[in-house]
Amino acid sequence: MFEVDLQGVPQRAFTGALPAPTDIDDLVRQAHARYASHREGSVADYIPILAEAPPDLFGISVVDVAGGAHEHGDADHAFSIQSISKAFVFALVCEAIGHQAVHDRVGVNNTGLPFNSVMALELNGGCPMNPMVNAGAIATTALMPAASHDERWARVRDGLSRFAGRELEIDAEVYRSEMRTNTRNRAIARLLEGYGRLETDPDAVVDTYTRQCALTVTAHDLAVMGATLADGGVNPITGARVVSAEVARDTLAVLASCGMYERSGEWLYEIGVPAKSGVAGGIVAVSPGKGAIGVFSPPLDSAGNSVRGQRVCAFLSRALGLNLFASQPAPVPSPAPHPSDNTEAP
Ligand code: DON
Repeated sequence: MFEVDLQGVPQRAFTGALPAPTDIDDLVRQAHARYASHREGSVADYIPILAEAPPDLFGISVVDVAGGAHEHGDADHAFSIQSISKAFVFALVCEAIGHQAVHDRVGVNNTGLPFNSVMALELNGGCPMNPMVNAGAIATTALMPAASHDERWARVRDGLSRFAGRELEIDAEVYRSEMRTNTRNRAIARLLEGYGRLETDPDAVVDTYTRQCALTVTAHDLAVMGATLADGGVNPITGARVVSAEVARDTLAVLASCGMYERSGEWLYEIGVPAKSGVAGGIVAVSPGKGAIGVFSPPLDSAGNSVRGQRVCAFLSRALGLNLFASQPAPVPSPAPHPSDNTEAP
């Protein structure tokens, strides 16, 4: 995955604090300049409207837990959130029904298979296992408590908007384009129903799931949403609590193991922070207690992850000192003075 030239990338030790704001601005600009000319990857086309996205669009935003924003390029360009919604709907559903219920009814393990795999369901007796792939996300959306499908959609949209700190709108063209072509997701929902894993109408759940994927965000919004998970569940811009600190923690644990699909292991090895990607070209990467990166660049690799997005995160993880697994030896304490050290010469 990572044929990333990281030569000369500034390295910062993991310290628990981000660098000074002007240094973050500068590193975000450097990351943009370094990868803007990279041309690998292809824009998604299985949702027909997404194939029209200009491949050169490229925006980066870093939002810290104090609410500071550091951005460059097309950080305000709107695109559909797609699979990144799975992370935040998962958090909202955990908040609504609790840690154990989500664990029991959806699962929290990587399937090791592509995001739209049907085989993963068949291999696991209909248990979706992974809330970050389509089967698990459809099952998770279905668990949002509501008296009607309209109410469920309203709760999903309202919750995602609270993560972003603004009212998110649906891109009607993206929604319609996906609804015309999403036979595979409909089949997955029917299979979940067949296994007794869906307690509501499969077509209606796929409709809500497709709407949540068609909500538009910017790289800045993604960074704010991620920074909310980094900030114990409180949106650092609005100051509003969106989910509990425990739910934010649990969501990041699932993102660490499942967020980048079958590439999640490589991602952790190279970048070392929880993250989630979407097929329109967005990635959110979260550094607990520090902040989050939102990147947007439409060309994807074969697993459906933005190529420039991954490179930017690899760069910034090193340059900002974000890798959760990095540590430095504790300073050796100086030995306590021995009482005899104080004896004065007679
Ligand atoms: O359900 C789908 O296939 C899309 N709405 C979302 C997939 C996606 O974003 C995969 N991500 N990289």
